[in-house]
Amino acid sequence: MTTIQQKNLIKQAVAAMRRAYAPYSRFRVGAALLTREGRIFQGCNVENASYGLTLCAERTALGAAVAAGHRRFTAIAVAASEAPRGKPQGFLAKKGGKTALIPCGACLQALAEFCRPDFVIIAVDAQNPAAMAVYSLKDLLPRAFRLE
Ligand code: THU
Repeated sequence: MTTIQQKNLIKQAVAAMRRAYAPYSRFRVGAALLTREGRIFQGCNVENASYGLTLCAERTALGAAVAAGHRRFTAIAVAASEAPRGKPQGFLAKKGGKTALIPCGACLQALAEFCRPDFVIIAVDAQNPAAMAVYSLKDLLPRAFRLE
């Protein structure tokens, strides 16, 4: 992945975050998923009054890409805005003094269905996109569940 691709991916994740539907948690998340052919698919969290039906940003991006016929991916950028005061901050992890969202375990497992262990995950603090943390899928989910 080039630096330009990385910057573009981050920009698109932040843009997708602005379209999040998160009236219940007010924790808005955006994702931009890069295919091996260089296409980008965006996703955002989509909440529901029946809370458990909520869709995470990473999985809406994955669903959009797969529905469009893409199954091979290089990287995902995930951007989040800080939760309002008094709300849990558990999704924000610090790496090297920087704060950014780490995808939840369910989304990591969903990504593992299609992505190799070296798939790149760029965690971005939308308020300070330059402060990002870069991981590989195997860093965050070293032992994904598989049926074979
Ligand atoms: N959320 C995501 O979109 N991605 C994650 O990896 C973690 C959580 C969303 C779901 C819900 O709408 C809100 O963040 C608070 O949990």
